[in-house]
Amino acid sequence: DEGAKLLARPPVITVMGHVDHGKTSLLDALRQTSLVEKEAGGITQHLGAFVVSMPSGSSITFLDTPGHAAFSAMRARGAAVTDIVVLVVAADDGVMPQTREAMSHATSANVPVVVAINKCDKPAADPERVKLQLASEGLLLEEMGGDVQVVEVSAVKKSGLDRLEEALLLQAELMDLKAPIDGPAQAYVVEARLDRGRGPLATAIVKAGTLVCGQYVVVGSEWGRIRALRDMVGKMTDLATPAMPIEIEGLKGLPMAGDDIVVVDSEERARMLSMGRKRKSEQDRLRRISEGRTEIEESSEK
Ligand code: GTP
Ligand code: NA
Ligand code: MG
Repeated sequence: DEGAKLLARPPVITVMGHVDHGKTSLLDALRQTSLVEKEAGGITQHLGAFVVSMPSGSSITFLDTPGHAAFSAMRARGAAVTDIVVLVVAADDGVMPQTREAMSHATSANVPVVVAINKCDKPAADPERVKLQLASEGLLLEEMGGDVQVVEVSAVKKSGLDRLEEALLLQAELMDLKAPIDGPAQAYVVEARLDRGRGPLATAIVKAGTLVCGQYVVVGSEWGRIRALRDMVGKMTDLATPAMPIEIEGLKGLPMAGDDIVVVDSEERARMLSMGRKRKSEQDRLRRISEGRTEIEESSEK
């Protein structure tokens, strides 16, 4: 809508890569350099997302490996919450099957990639070989005349992290990320879990608009009224603006990563929309079975 005021927002960045190439270690290392969490005294229980504040005042929202399934689900909805993918490749192992998978997810979702060649501290590290492999996979690396930035890092030695953050901020700057801050939120779930005392909890990122405590929401095919919003260090907040990861409490059922969040104006509408979506997903399930795509059934029955 033309009248909506657009404000600059931080980039939302997802770390992807092959198993054990150091995605979590790299995020942990970045997290430890985070001013925000140092100020808040630190311990985050939310592994799904966190915000790093740079001394320059800019901030970056990182999503912890939500898994390829979640990334695909968001992509399928045409709503990739991710602005940039950090492709982590271990300098000793090089390009592996899930490296390629991550690359193709990013490419088909039209999300730019920044490569972090990790484990450069290892004696067997060979970053030059990794670069050649990536190039032969079709990635147009900056140092070969393309526009994909590559940074050599070590999560263990915490080296190269400042250069990685610079590369990400540069990429984000090129993208000129903006979002409307007014109006009902459009948001997406990045992870969900059931807490014994607090019930279903969804970690979400607002894409546009503002999410406000007390609002009725439909999340995927579940619904609820937001009872509490917490930031990623557990601090209560009344509202969430674009690119801000928050935890939502008050849902009646457990949503899935990739689910969209829609704000509605009454409990009645929330129940109705949720019921309609549940009916539709049941119909889709039955159609898949009748088409003989039983693998979905098999895996969900385990
Ligand atoms: P999955 O989530 O299981 O796919 O793994 P991951 O990509 O998150 O890797 P993770 O951070 O769990 O690291 C895997 C192993 O590599 C751990 O034993 C880490 O200690 C080690 N590792 C991670 N980064 C580095 C690094 O920079 N140097 C060295 N030497 N080891 C590293
Ligand atoms: Na691992
Ligand atoms: Mg991990």
